Amino acid sequence: MVGHCAPTPSIVPHPARMLRARLRSYAPSVLISAMPDALALLTTRRSVKPIELVGPAPSAAEIDTILTIAARVPDHGKLVPWRFLVFEGDGRLAAGEKIAAAFRADHPDAKPEHVEMERTRLARAALVVAVVSRAAPHVKIPEWEQVLSAGAAAMNVVLAAHALGYAANWMTEWYAYDRRVLDALGLAPNERIAGFVHIGRPAQPPTDRPRPPLADVVTRFTA
Ligand SMILES: Cc1cc2nc3c(=O)[nH]c(=O)nc-3n(C[C@H](O)[C@H](O)[C@H](O)COP(=O)(O)O)c2cc1C
Repeated sequence: MVGHCAPTPSIVPHPARMLRARLRSYAPSVLISAMPDALALLTTRRSVKPIELVGPAPSAAEIDTILTIAARVPDHGKLVPWRFLVFEGDGRLAAGEKIAAAFRADHPDAKPEHVEMERTRLARAALVVAVVSRAAPHVKIPEWEQVLSAGAAAMNVVLAAHALGYAANWMTEWYAYDRRVLDALGLAPNERIAGFVHIGRPAQPPTDRPRPPLADVVTRFTA
């Protein structure tokens, strides 16, 4: 009589098992646990006006961290429908010249101090990261979703800056919508500014502003 015996344990490594083992060695399974620091950041973050930001600017390594986090956002279709333009050091005033030129063209009689204010727009904070939307018509992915991805990237710039101990302010102001300025900053015709995120150290701890009560913005769907 032939007895049933337990299957012999496989000694030949199965390709799928080998692959799983290799992947495990690259990326040990991550136990997602609560991150109270992250919650503290998210519940306390608030914007600080550019004029209330002081130096020094984030280091080169910190800027890389901010941009790496910014590039890590939901992106339907993996189109990467955004890019980043960094203004630091002298580049901030060089860009300011372009802003001031557009302003002067529209306001030839403007007072010198007003022109100077425009020239220093991007020099108020030690670092400005512009999030450029590259949203374009696509056969499958709505442009709207590409724009939202750029918004997510801008928010990640803000959050990463805060997580590193800086403060930030996501702004657009008039020059974000001025085609002459965008051209001068090197944006392609289909590119737009999602935001100029100003980053620095807060001169003093910011006070919060009222937030919308959840009751005003939340409803629960019922059948
Ligand atoms: C797309 C976008 C553009 C913005 N542009 C400006 C702006 O040009 N000027 C401004 O004062 N605030 C602007 N804000 C608002 C600030 O980023 C910020 O939300 C506001 O100062 C409130 O601070 P909070 O972030 O602490 O709520 C903008 C926000 C978004 C989302």
